[in-house]
Amino acid sequence: MSDKPNEILRANSIYHVYESNAEDGNVVALRGLNVSIHEGEAVAVVGPSGSGKSTLLKCLGGLMKPSAGSVELAGTRMTRLTGKQLVKLRQDTVSFIFQDSNLLPHLNALDNVAQPLIHQGVLARKARPKAQELLDKLGMGERSYGMPEELSGGEQQRVAIARALITDPKLILADEPTGALDPITSREVLQLFKTLHKESEVAFLLVTHNREVASFCERSLELREGRFIAQHGTDVDIGDLSDSRELIVDDTGTITLPPDVLLSLGGPGRFEMSEIDRDYLHLERVDEDKVSVSSGTNAMVLSSHCPACKYDYAGSEDQLCPECGSSRPMIQS
Ligand SMILES: Nc1ncnc2c1ncn2[C@@H]1O[C@H](COP(=O)(O)OP(=O)(O)OP(=O)(O)O)[C@@H](O)[C@H]1O
Ligand SMILES: [Mg+2]
Repeated sequence: MSDKPNEILRANSIYHVYESNAEDGNVVALRGLNVSIHEGEAVAVVGPSGSGKSTLLKCLGGLMKPSAGSVELAGTRMTRLTGKQLVKLRQDTVSFIFQDSNLLPHLNALDNVAQPLIHQGVLARKARPKAQELLDKLGMGERSYGMPEELSGGEQQRVAIARALITDPKLILADEPTGALDPITSREVLQLFKTLHKESEVAFLLVTHNREVASFCERSLELREGRFIAQHGTDVDIGDLSDSRELIVDDTGTITLPPDVLLSLGGPGRFEMSEIDRDYLHLERVDEDKVSVSSGTNAMVLSSHCPACKYDYAGSEDQLCPECGSSRPMIQS
């Protein structure tokens, strides 16, 4: 059992390696992550494409076994369970929402929502009224008999949210839940999450590129190349991650500096530890390496366009591309 009773999820030093026979070899997707989520807490995970967000979510929700480390869900260590026990724990505790709603195409909205309960052995005539109630609550009461292909993207996502809620989960893991929606529908779905967060005791872990989604979370974890590099406080503006940022030193002693911090520091180089104490570290650049950030031939600036999708940053200080989520590199001016 976990020592903190109100902790719904805890991960200790999880690593994940995707094994591959291909030339580029294995991919280390997660590099020693610790996560703790309390009952009713909403936490966002932000980070560029390929940083390991989906991998993390799957490991935390028991859809995938991490290569190393342990995950406790509601005080039970998942890595020690048999397949059957794991399915039961997952069914009782956690629900997933993905970018595309993943509805079963041959079932109507009502039966899609009722399905997790029926899976648990609840009779359809008991599960359906509860499904209808949730659809009503999410403004989809009139569309219960619509088939997924007849529903718009936003409607499908509402059905997926109703389906996630029907088992009264303690934790909802959502991977880019508004990623496939237009801005207006996305806002509606977000409003729904906000209301759910206020009204129920359910905890959220949301992967997002969307700054409005991150804004209702109590904190955001910033992931880069499989490591948490920083944590952000309430109402974080993920367009400007430098606000309210706490850097993270991981178990291996590694600190990865976010690009804007590296930029302010004057770029990469060698540093001398001039003072070191418990909870305190002072770094000073070794003289010969000193580079000028704001002027001179070595000046580094944030690139004006996203290298991945060509998005024009147009003078903004954003660190992540609002279009594709890629991190914004620094270039020589
Ligand atoms: N099934 C797989 N086999 C091999 N490598 C994988 C697999 N799935 C993901 N990866 C790699 O693991 C790393 C992390 O991938 P992941 O999907 O977790 O990133 P992400 O942060 O969710 O990205 P995105 O924002 O694009 O969804 C990437 O380098 C990716 O290429
Ligand atoms: Mg992903």
